[in-house]
Amino acid sequence: MTGNTRNDAGEAIAEDGGDFKPLIVAFTCNWCSYAGADFAGISRMQYPASIRVVRLMCSGRMHPGFILGALEMGADGVMVSGCHPGDCHYTFGNKSGQEAVETAIEMAEMAGLNGDRIHLQWVSASEGALFARTVDEFTRTINGLGPNPLGREPVDPSVVEMACSIHEDMTVAFEPSQAPEATREGLEVLREAFDSTHAYRCIECGKCTGICPVNARYPAFHPRKLVIKGMYGLDGELAYDHTIWACLECGLCREACRVDVDLPEFVRRLRSLARSEGQGEVGTHGGLIHTFDRLCSHSHNEPDLTSWSKEGRLRFDPRSDTVFVSGYAGALEQIIPDVEYDTKASPRDAVRILNMLGVRPVLFETERPSGHDLYYTGDNNAFGRLASMNAEALRATGAKRAVFVCPETMHTYRDLYPVVTGEPLGLECVHVIELVTEALAEEKVALRMLPNDQGLGAITYHDSCRMGRMLGLYDEPRQVIEETGDELVEMVHNRGYADCCGVGAWQRCDPASRQLRLARLVEAHEAGANRLVTPCSRCTFHFKCQQCHDGAEETPSTEDVEIIDLATYVAERLVKL
Ligand code: FES
Repeated sequence: MTGNTRNDAGEAIAEDGGDFKPLIVAFTCNWCSYAGADFAGISRMQYPASIRVVRLMCSGRMHPGFILGALEMGADGVMVSGCHPGDCHYTFGNKSGQEAVETAIEMAEMAGLNGDRIHLQWVSASEGALFARTVDEFTRTINGLGPNPLGREPVDPSVVEMACSIHEDMTVAFEPSQAPEATREGLEVLREAFDSTHAYRCIECGKCTGICPVNARYPAFHPRKLVIKGMYGLDGELAYDHTIWACLECGLCREACRVDVDLPEFVRRLRSLARSEGQGEVGTHGGLIHTFDRLCSHSHNEPDLTSWSKEGRLRFDPRSDTVFVSGYAGALEQIIPDVEYDTKASPRDAVRILNMLGVRPVLFETERPSGHDLYYTGDNNAFGRLASMNAEALRATGAKRAVFVCPETMHTYRDLYPVVTGEPLGLECVHVIELVTEALAEEKVALRMLPNDQGLGAITYHDSCRMGRMLGLYDEPRQVIEETGDELVEMVHNRGYADCCGVGAWQRCDPASRQLRLARLVEAHEAGANRLVTPCSRCTFHFKCQQCHDGAEETPSTEDVEIIDLATYVAERLVKL
């Protein structure tokens, strides 16, 4: 490891770091590296007092979320150390550890941090000298980089609480007897939740619970009961009730409610309340998506989410009156590398479509994650920062129209940003599929089957929650599929009553989520479809994950359903007239 003389902003910094005293978190495996560190200590080898050691049984326990989380909380560097390849006491644990480090470096750089802040070193129990030398050299590297800019930010206490808390069995419903007394602040949050969602109108009919796809598989989550507890002012009980983290915010309950209660928003506000009580829950995949979004929510980090735009000869024009907002789809593939899915294809194919329609959009180079998942998990602070920065950067492009391919991103910009920032977005928001249907009506383009489509059988369309219930786009995707000549068949649950893919804001991937995904794939198969088209990268990703992992084995038929992204489906079949 050599000393780096540039900080995250690319500015030169003295290698001795001046008065700066780096803080390095070192994750070491129990059997080799921790013993190596111990050996260095008992042999009285000198190395800087910059590290804080966290002992793991194996480096295979590492998760990229631990590394990004340490950086988020202000560590200047993170070192991971395990047994040499071939020596791991759990055979291949260190291979997973290495993958976790590589993913963390990639995501840190995407979020605008210097990847040199993360270092991996294999150290055996007898290599005390190597451990000491590694700490010494890495400390010099961090001195060269200077302090982690995030160390200057006050850390959100709810994030620290979440990282430190252990909720051993999150599927067990909370015992009310453990609930703290109501507080004035908690009651105020409840009052606001009732006012903003009209929950006071609830007539306790139970339709929300009856239609809830989570309740059907995990009865402890009971939307109606949450509202009733709120009516009794049981804020303490609600904040400590971990069933609230099972909600998928899919909006089916809103569809069924006859008195217009916005239950997903009610649950979202309960989550904010829970966070303020230190009762947040770390999201799925080690909370990696949420941590990544929070890292990108700090103004001094300059994320780069445009890697998808570098391939495929896409045409952009900085003077265009249309700007393309990609959403964070391109950052997904780091999360589950073993799912075969090019997540950059969706934004790339959307721009291919735009180019075919004669539109060369502005590339939104300063785009940050929309913050959709932070919003729905009740992280108001980080979401507010992202909303302000994205809205301002979007206006600064000078465009009049924003085109989206990711439905949740469009919902976030169009429906949430104006509310949270208190300012209109100032641009018309359009989904790319709406432009395709317009061009079809004007006979500027047509859709044709591919030669290989012949004989592939019927196709079905999955209304993702955000595309359907939140954006109201039900007809347009169906119209383009039918325009190709493909046979479109409907699943039992469709349009406003379509079931969710099972993963809302990346909060939980529990048995209920997996059962939901499997049920959706079974529905597609029973409808006679061999292909399932979805407008949402998140749905595509999770259906594919289901097929790769647990679902396919139980019902082999669902494995035969090919999952296709809507933008890719259209881009491959669109022709100019
Ligand atoms: Fe040391 Fe697995 S036991 S890396």
